[in-house]
Amino acid sequence: MKTIAVIGAGTMGAGIAQLAAKYGCEVHLIDVNADLVKRAVESITKRLDRSVEKGKLSTDERDAIAGRISPSDTITGLGNVELAIEAVVENLDVKHKVFKQLEAETPATAILATNTSSLSVTKIAAALSDPARVIGMHFFNPAPVMPLVEIIAGEASDTAHIDAAYDVAGAWGKTPVRAKDTPGFIVNRVARGFYLEALRLLDEGVGSVYEIDSVMKTHGKFRMGPFELMDLVGLDVNFSVSTSVWQQMDKPERLTPHAIQEKLVSDGHLGRKTGRGFYVYEDGGVMPAHTVDRQSFELSPLTANAILAFSYKAGASEANSTEQYIFTRILAAIINEAGIAYGQGVASSDDIDIAMTKGTNYPKGPLEWADEIGHRNVRGALKALGEVAPGRYDAAALFEE
Ligand SMILES: NC(=O)c1ccc[n+]([C@@H]2O[C@H](COP(=O)([O-])OP(=O)(O)OC[C@H]3O[C@@H](n4cnc5c(N)ncnc54)[C@H](O)[C@@H]3O)[C@@H](O)[C@H]2O)c1
Repeated sequence: MKTIAVIGAGTMGAGIAQLAAKYGCEVHLIDVNADLVKRAVESITKRLDRSVEKGKLSTDERDAIAGRISPSDTITGLGNVELAIEAVVENLDVKHKVFKQLEAETPATAILATNTSSLSVTKIAAALSDPARVIGMHFFNPAPVMPLVEIIAGEASDTAHIDAAYDVAGAWGKTPVRAKDTPGFIVNRVARGFYLEALRLLDEGVGSVYEIDSVMKTHGKFRMGPFELMDLVGLDVNFSVSTSVWQQMDKPERLTPHAIQEKLVSDGHLGRKTGRGFYVYEDGGVMPAHTVDRQSFELSPLTANAILAFSYKAGASEANSTEQYIFTRILAAIINEAGIAYGQGVASSDDIDIAMTKGTNYPKGPLEWADEIGHRNVRGALKALGEVAPGRYDAAALFEE
């Protein structure tokens, strides 16, 4: 790709523009708000300056990258664009407006990609007279750093465009995976269990925010615990993804957004960005902000055994029984969602595993983990957890084999 356009110069648009320019593309960076494009270019320049300071980039390279980005506040003059990536606000009407303009202003051969996190690519494409031009290219934040790109085919997407976008992502140093146009694609769907199960455990008084985070980091080798991660991403952003995936999937009980998170969002406690979420961030220190109403719980011997077997095989043999219970509930929920998504043809098992390790830094792909644990043990743990909430942990067909 020689020339591309990025529409929307916010967090994602600025990152994608920087990435493409680094790999030699001429980039039209466009936003409705001229000030925001200016600010985006300034933020890109600052990031490039930091790379120069760290010795990762020469000053000539920095100048060349910055020189390839042309800011604009109108979607015009795109006659030589081969790929346009839309990263405007997550609103279907706004996206339709932008795609109609792109259809008119770019050559008919140009690929039109959306970076949407939660809208249907098929629905976005429906506004165009040639919906075959539209595909999904879902980058992760920060786009210059995060290795994953989910390449999504809508119902009408031209397969040649899908293949070309896959190659472009690879040429830009990314790891692409293919995903079906379903709610949350791979990462934003399979990751739900990490957050929702942690919230339920907190609500049930099984463990505190700190304890649940520690279990997942110490025994699961996750880089961050679920509450730390929600605070980092922003509770509002995370809650809206949970809500969107749940609603679009016809509200399955297992994916129900949690009232604790909803309350924190409505109280304006959005995580690090507001200084308070599940933790308080003050004077450079971090303290849990959420107290737990601790409840004792009892498991039947059958359930306890299933949790023990699952934990041992999953790498948490050193954990005590409460820790193993927390660990099993969270990991089994992630693994089961991955299995259900696989069964629904969302992606191949390899792509699901790649997506979860590269898109959200999981220590292992959930389906690879399930193989190590043994499908029999996975099935056993899920069945046993049905004691907590009948129906919620019904095993994916994959684990019934
Ligand atoms: N932030 C993330 O972590 C993340 C990750 C992956 C995907 N996404 C998706 O990427 C897209 C952008 O997200 P973001 O976080 O960068 O948002 P943002 O709010 O930071 O930026 C959106 C930009 O779009 C601009 N815009 C609005 N209407 C426009 C129009 N008609 N024409 C041109 N520009 C317009 C706004 O002025 C703003 O600068 C969304 O679809 C989001 O779901 C976000």
